[in-house]
Order: sequence, then structure tokens, then C-alpha cells
Amino acid sequence: MAYDVAVLVGSLRKGSFSRAVAENLATLAADKLALRIVEIGDLPLYNPDLEGDAPPAAWAKFRSEIAGADAVLFVTPEYNRSVPGLLKNALDVGSRPYGHSVWKGKPTAVVSVSPGLLGAFGANHHLRQSLVFLDMPPMQQPEAYVSKIGDILDKDGKLMSEDTKSFLNGFLAAFATWIGKHK
Ligand code: FNR
Repeated sequence: MAYDVAVLVGSLRKGSFSRAVAENLATLAADKLALRIVEIGDLPLYNPDLEGDAPPAAWAKFRSEIAGADAVLFVTPEYNRSVPGLLKNALDVGSRPYGHSVWKGKPTAVVSVSPGLLGAFGANHHLRQSLVFLDMPPMQQPEAYVSKIGDILDKDGKLMSEDTKSFLNGFLAAFATWIGKHK
């Protein structure tokens, strides 16, 4: 059976390039991995004071959606050379209460996306720093920096570039192998 992979997208924008890439990845992965996007836009900002008997329902739902996954894939743009606050908040919510992190041991990989040339390198690497700390084995190779994304999606958000599709297929195959090793 295909591994169940929770996908977190670091953008809330309706026309988000990152979400389009995540959706293309889900299609490309179909025979290898079952990718499902876990929504993170309604998570209240992390505040330890809200833990206790009745933490926000959105936190509880999110934590159980991640806990049930075999692996986690991040697809993110770069904000100011780092990880969008939206995504960092989701990492923080999942990491608490102390000792009950839902991230621990989950194999993970990062796809960073930008309309510019640098492929959101800064976000990709800042994210890896947190993933290592959270004790998630991050796939080292291949790395995925998807640049000039605005030039390779059609008007429906489908990837037009055969080179990019082929690269992402290889990335997904490597991730399936990585999950098998670390699950
Ligand atoms: C950006 N953008 C951006 N791009 C980049 O390559 N490096 C950066 O540091 C930033 N910084 C940044 C900050 C903020 C607050 C915004 C809103 C945008 C541009 C960004 O890559 C572009 O808007 C993407 O289209 C955002 O991704 P989605 O929403 O299309 O997935």
C-alpha cells in the first residue's frame, strides 16, 4: 500500500504557485505515494497558555492529522529569505505540548518554489534547520528548488515542463525509498 504523506503548503494565496506544485506532486505521486494536503490556515497562533484541558479544536485536529501520517512533505515559497510564518506556526503547534510532538521520527522532504531564479533556497534551508531539531529525518538528496515557476504552469496550474515533471518524479521515487528506510 502507498505510504500516507501529509503535505503542508506554506501559502494561503488563492492562486498560490506552491499549492499548484503540491497538487501536481499529488498527481505525479499517485502510483508511489498517497499525498494529502493538510490545511494549516486556520491554526490559531501558537500560545502555550492555550494548552491544558481544552486546547483549540483546530490544533487537536491538526495534531491528529499529522500523527496518522507515515511522512510529511513541505511545499513552500520563501518569505524574506525564510519560512512563511504560516508554516512556522504549524511546526510550533505540532511540536507541543512538550514531550508530545507529532513530528518526531516522521521522514520528511522539502520542495521550495519561487517565481524568481533562486528557488526559495533560503526558506528550504531554514525549514531544514527546524526539521532536524524536531527529529524528523529530512531527505538530503535530491534537493528540490523549483524556480521560475510562473513560466512552467499553465492557466489551470498544471506543470507544462516535461523536465520539471521528470525531476519531480525522481524526487518522489527517492522520497518513497527514504520513507521505507526511516518509517
Ligand atoms: C515574497 N516573495 C519572495 N520571493 C523570494 O524568492 N524570496 C523572498 O525572500 C521573498 N519574500 C517575500 C515576502 C513576502 C511577505 C511575500 C508576500 C512574497 C515573493 C514570493 O516568492 C511570491 O510572492 C510567491 O508567488 C509566493 O508563493 P505562492 O503564494 O505563489 O505559493
